[in-house]
Amino acid sequence: MGFNVAIDGPAGAGKSTIAKTVAKTMQFIYVDTGAMYRTIGFYMLRNGISVDDQEAVCAHLSEVDVTLGYEDGVQQVYLNGENVSASIRTQEVGEAASKVSAMPPVRAALLDLQRNLAKSADILMDGRDIGTVVLPDADVKIFLTASSLVRAKRRYKELVEKGADCDLLTIQKEIEERDYRDSHREIAPLKQADDAILVDSSDMTIEEVVAEIIRLIGEKRK
Ligand code: DC
Repeated sequence: MGFNVAIDGPAGAGKSTIAKTVAKTMQFIYVDTGAMYRTIGFYMLRNGISVDDQEAVCAHLSEVDVTLGYEDGVQQVYLNGENVSASIRTQEVGEAASKVSAMPPVRAALLDLQRNLAKSADILMDGRDIGTVVLPDADVKIFLTASSLVRAKRRYKELVEKGADCDLLTIQKEIEERDYRDSHREIAPLKQADDAILVDSSDMTIEEVVAEIIRLIGEKRK
């Protein structure tokens, strides 16, 4: 069993940016579980299968093979052998992922894959239920959050930099809706594990959060 770090938290809390940097610094393998749910959502959208229809999604689930690979240390996700790492990064795919991730067969299909990855190596896994369900015995558990306004402002800045025309309040509303759906679903909802350490990044820079998480991991590894 490798050394396992679980980072959970809501959309836009900076989990993936921070997890990637921490993993690189500490030479852990980074596993982005959101990318796996996104891949399933992407498959359904691409094939015209409604992500609001659990029966339809589940009927097509066996057609989806999600695998991970690494190129220059960066996680790549494959859908039936095709690298979809870039295509899954849209808002629409994020919404679809949030919907399909509430379906128990979808979660069951990904659970073994996630647990097996953690068995053999030192990994840092991020998601919503890593500390509570996927790796309940993780060596370090972090719950990384920030206020919905701060998260919306970060997302707004990213979109504006890409030249998109968007509205801060609409983004904040979408973030709050996604938080609600992710934390109120019946199976593996987003919640802080009892033994997780809360890190609120609202008033912290990325560098400060990275340093804090490295410090917390270092304490446990002594
Ligand atoms: O972290 P992300 O935005 O890429 O995740 C996309 C969706 O996938 C998110 O809205 C909820 C779901 N998800 C989940 O249910 N469990 C995880 N461990 C990771 C993501």
